[in-house]
Amino acid sequence: MKVIGIVGSPRCRGNTDLLVEQVLAGARVHGIETEKVHLGELDIRSCRACYSCAATGRCVIEDDFPWLLEKVLGASGIVLGSPMYVGTVTAQMKAFIDRVDCSQVEMVRAPTGEARFRSRHRGRFGVVVAVCDLSPMAELRRCARVLEACLRDLGARPVGEVLARRLSDIGDVRKRPELLARAFRTGERLAAAIRGGEIG
Ligand SMILES: Cc1cc2nc3c(=O)[nH]c(=O)nc-3n(C[C@H](O)[C@H](O)[C@H](O)COP(=O)(O)O)c2cc1C
Repeated sequence: MKVIGIVGSPRCRGNTDLLVEQVLAGARVHGIETEKVHLGELDIRSCRACYSCAATGRCVIEDDFPWLLEKVLGASGIVLGSPMYVGTVTAQMKAFIDRVDCSQVEMVRAPTGEARFRSRHRGRFGVVVAVCDLSPMAELRRCARVLEACLRDLGARPVGEVLARRLSDIGDVRKRPELLARAFRTGERLAAAIRGGEIG
């Protein structure tokens, strides 16, 4: 059983990184293996909307995306974290989200003929971490919804979220023990979901 944390901030040891790390630490105390990946260190290019993946589920762009996707699909839990940049996730995170959405979601027809989109996957659980400075909570929640949509595209049911405002400089969150504790508890909840609810 493994949880993968994906950090969408370009800043290593920044606020998102530290909160994602706490979520992973909460899962680890319940015996779950964890791994963290920084999108800023990977080459993940933008979706070209060529729709080659529609039939195959495979993206034709040759970069680090297939490597990361394999890791993500091999995990039981996914933690997606991003700071808010101009009202939404970072460009690094958006590139990942678009690539997932295009390649891992299929169109199905309802009996009424209406088109619906559903993930090619099932059976995972996820947590989102969204961080900002001065924007209002409602805006941060919209940013978190974007991350949640990606969890669903990956077949992961969201079981918790960590939303943190008033964080600006790298490492500011270290001065907010209540946020770190909340992130840790959210990781424990993720572990419980993965283990079928056996943790308190
Ligand atoms: C390009 C850019 C755009 C930003 N846009 C917003 C924003 O719209 N609202 C907000 O509250 N903070 C905004 N911020 C501040 C970051 O969300 C904040 O500093 C956050 O703590 C950074 O997270 P990190 O430490 O994980 O990198 C922005 C920062 C940058 C660099």
